[in-house]
Amino acid sequence: MHTAYYIFPDQVHLGFGAARLAGQTLKAEGMRHAFVIADPGVASAGLVAPGLASLAEAGVAHTLYTQVIPNPDCASVDAAAEGYRASEADCVVGIGGGSALDTAKAVRIVVAGPQEGRIAEYAYRLGDKARPHPPRSRLPFYIAIPTTAGTGAEVTPWAVVTDPEAKLKFGVGGPHSVPNMALIDPELMLTLPAFLTAATGMDALTHCIEAYVSTNENPVLDAMILGAIAQIGRSLPVAVAQPANRAARRDMAEAAMIGGIAISSKWLGACHSLAHPLSSFAGVQHGLANAIMLPHVMRYNLPGAIERYAQVNDALGGPGGTLRARAEGAAIMVEQLRRDVGLPARLRDAGVSEALLAPMAKAAYELDLNWWTNPRAVNVQVMEQLYREAF
Ligand SMILES: [Fe+2]
Repeated sequence: MHTAYYIFPDQVHLGFGAARLAGQTLKAEGMRHAFVIADPGVASAGLVAPGLASLAEAGVAHTLYTQVIPNPDCASVDAAAEGYRASEADCVVGIGGGSALDTAKAVRIVVAGPQEGRIAEYAYRLGDKARPHPPRSRLPFYIAIPTTAGTGAEVTPWAVVTDPEAKLKFGVGGPHSVPNMALIDPELMLTLPAFLTAATGMDALTHCIEAYVSTNENPVLDAMILGAIAQIGRSLPVAVAQPANRAARRDMAEAAMIGGIAISSKWLGACHSLAHPLSSFAGVQHGLANAIMLPHVMRYNLPGAIERYAQVNDALGGPGGTLRARAEGAAIMVEQLRRDVGLPARLRDAGVSEALLAPMAKAAYELDLNWWTNPRAVNVQVMEQLYREAF
């Protein structure tokens, strides 16, 4: 039996001021004390203020936890779970980029499980040996408040956690760990610096494009994804050039959410398999890693999804002509967008050394399973070739 399978978000509020709905929501859910997990930079920039003020107004106490690290690792998640257990909290609020939202998502799995459970034991890659995911009814209520327009983590079912010893990013979670509510507030994104705006925006674009050509068939999402690709093509350069442009920031917040919805059902592809080792081996920012690898992956994949790439090209306002010319135009449009938003084109310009390419290719193929839904088969040689082209 083949069925199209969809994972949609739970509740979403999207718009300026949305973060201020946190307090009344938690109060209505009968919550008394929120464990607020935030990026330290986000907290020091004052971006947690609207959410915390709304908690105070609603009479919901909070514990603020800011020991979030970029690319959260097992130790940082387990420490945050300890923090939750030591507090009086009965619910979780995550405020920040993907790292904070994923830390929060992973914490609620740990705290809903037995005391001795550690996040590494819940990894998908362990298969049957993984510790059983706690049922949704036991997970603390979770409100996700993104401060970047990129990962879509506010609506996705899984968290990505790094195992530093294995130099591996692994997934935890599942349909039961979709956040209960996403409060997507572009107001919190108006001060995001140009580099992070560009890199996180290119991550969102990669989600949309990889999902659109994925081998998972979810036709209900197609028009929505193409719309988001067009929106990113239009609004990302504006958001980078004019950080306070409210319309562009709102567009990007919406497109990133759609990217999250898209990958929840359709999953990703070879580009994310290649991007994850670039972070865990070489410390490349996730969105930048995708931005550099994406056009190479698109050209490689072309024979497997030519019509879909032609549609991506059209959404990005690319050249007309034959199906082949349009499909090839998609990668050219992505390169142009990357240039317009000021990101480098080569791995060597992102601090990656050539000696890492072979070990990263092995990790991308053997340890990162995102290529499962890639529209063209890959192997370790292909992975290394794609890194070399991008180097
Ligand atoms: Fe991503």
